[in-house]
Amino acid sequence: MELLLHVLFSWVTVSVIIASGARGDEQYISAVGDPGMRRDGLRVAFEAWNFCNEVGEEAPGMGSPRAADCFDLSSKHVYYHGRKHKNEQGSSLELRHKVSEADNELGVGKPFTGLSPGAANDVDLYAAEKEKYLGSLCQVDTPRPWQFWMIMLKNGNYDTQSGLCPENGKKVPPFNPGRFPCFGKGCMNQPILYHQYTHLLGGGTMRGSFNGTYDLDSDISAGLDGISFYEVVWKKKVGAGSWVFNHKLKTSKKYPWLMLYLRADATKGFSGGYHYSTRGMLKTLPESPNFKVRLTLDIKKGGGPKSQFYLIDMGSCWKNNGDPCDGDVLTDVTRYSEMIINPETPAWCSSTSIGNCPPYHITPDNKKISRNDTVHFPYGAYHYYCAPGNAQHLEQPVSTCDPYSNPQAQEIVQLLPHPIWTEYGYPIKQGDGWVGDARTWELDVGGLSSRLYFYQDPGSRPARRIWTSLDVGTEIFVSDKDEIAEWTLSDFDVIYTPPSS
Ligand SMILES: *[C@@H]1O[C@H](CO)[C@@H](O)[C@H](O)[C@H]1NC(C)=O
Ligand SMILES: *[C@@H]1O[C@H](CO)[C@@H](O)[C@H](O)[C@H]1NC(C)=O
Repeated sequence: MELLLHVLFSWVTVSVIIASGARGDEQYISAVGDPGMRRDGLRVAFEAWNFCNEVGEEAPGMGSPRAADCFDLSSKHVYYHGRKHKNEQGSSLELRHKVSEADNELGVGKPFTGLSPGAANDVDLYAAEKEKYLGSLCQVDTPRPWQFWMIMLKNGNYDTQSGLCPENGKKVPPFNPGRFPCFGKGCMNQPILYHQYTHLLGGGTMRGSFNGTYDLDSDISAGLDGISFYEVVWKKKVGAGSWVFNHKLKTSKKYPWLMLYLRADATKGFSGGYHYSTRGMLKTLPESPNFKVRLTLDIKKGGGPKSQFYLIDMGSCWKNNGDPCDGDVLTDVTRYSEMIINPETPAWCSSTSIGNCPPYHITPDNKKISRNDTVHFPYGAYHYYCAPGNAQHLEQPVSTCDPYSNPQAQEIVQLLPHPIWTEYGYPIKQGDGWVGDARTWELDVGGLSSRLYFYQDPGSRPARRIWTSLDVGTEIFVSDKDEIAEWTLSDFDVIYTPPSS
């Protein structure tokens, strides 16, 4: 290489920006910035949430729990005696990263472009603004700008004496512990995060990862026995196929309730469960009933009996009177619907526990079946329904959702595989999509979510069901022993399906 007289780099963006996707000959409109996860120049970010979806306290030396890995893939032409030459690795490709280590390490008190004075010293607001800042570095300016896939990690510990979480959006004083897991002071901590920036391996494969643990005093390189662990590794061959995201999540005695999802979130406004302006991948917000979700899921380890694996979890926000959310946590209500595919998950909704069922089921031909119609109601299709804690006109009996685990009241409709969902391409029997049944799904999420019961005040105008988050992953709910889940997700796409005439 001493003979190299001069080196010239010419940067050519290899990745083609696609506004719409193409599958075979079929053209369609995708709601995500990266249809099918096929863009070589990846955009992925990380966020960690405490029990009520805030930061609470940063982990020592880790900065604010927001990070990103975004790059463009460029071809690097090395000129040798005036002739184009490949570089030493025999590869002419380079990743140009957009987010530096210093950006990712930003923590409360440290300035960055656009940081508002009110957020500089508040760990919760700081994280929300750091997410927007990382988004500005990663943003792809197609006609509708978008930023990144979001990897979300949440710790379900709740220290009721910390005073950190509101009750249905209302600030409440500390109270005595009881029903929530917490090993004592500090149980709501943020995790350690290790980040391996995406880089080129041999053979034109790109790879990067985020991993870490909640056990701040542990050393994961010494083994994972007895400690919590999470990891997401993404890999792709240049120019071919989809990114494949391999996820691992492990609970421990101190951290028995953990959640790890890959999310397509709104590019602005609120995403599911988040009451700050967000950044994400949904450049067009999908609205029921006109969209489908396509993805490939391969679950390798289930995560034990309490692992509520979601294929898929959708999140949005609207008020009980049908109005869209505006950031007022006293009247905004997070709405979730989740299909839980772990075959060990029982239906808590039954003819003898109708308080765990939505008031009615709606069939594909729009017939309502009341939950007291024991002959026709599909009890086995519902794991659990809980109503918003701030609803004024609930049909009894009813179970209201946990008032502390969101910044505001929430409503959750949890589904189970059942033949009743056949029409929508969803799992229809126990074991569908589970370990050993890897599949590419095309879920009519729009159609199904247009026919789910969600609470509204009597006589109010029906809310527009616009979904700001579509997530896949697992929630390992308070486990008695250390559990491990592992799965890969690829080909994720959100497809606009125009109304049929
Ligand atoms: C976590 O990721 C780092 C790279 O950032 C890697 O060196 C390490 O082996 C990973 N740890 C485990 C336990 O997989
Ligand atoms: C069933 O519930 C509906 C309201 O959803 C009510 O009008 C009806 O009287 C109930 N029927 C019985 C038999 O309890």
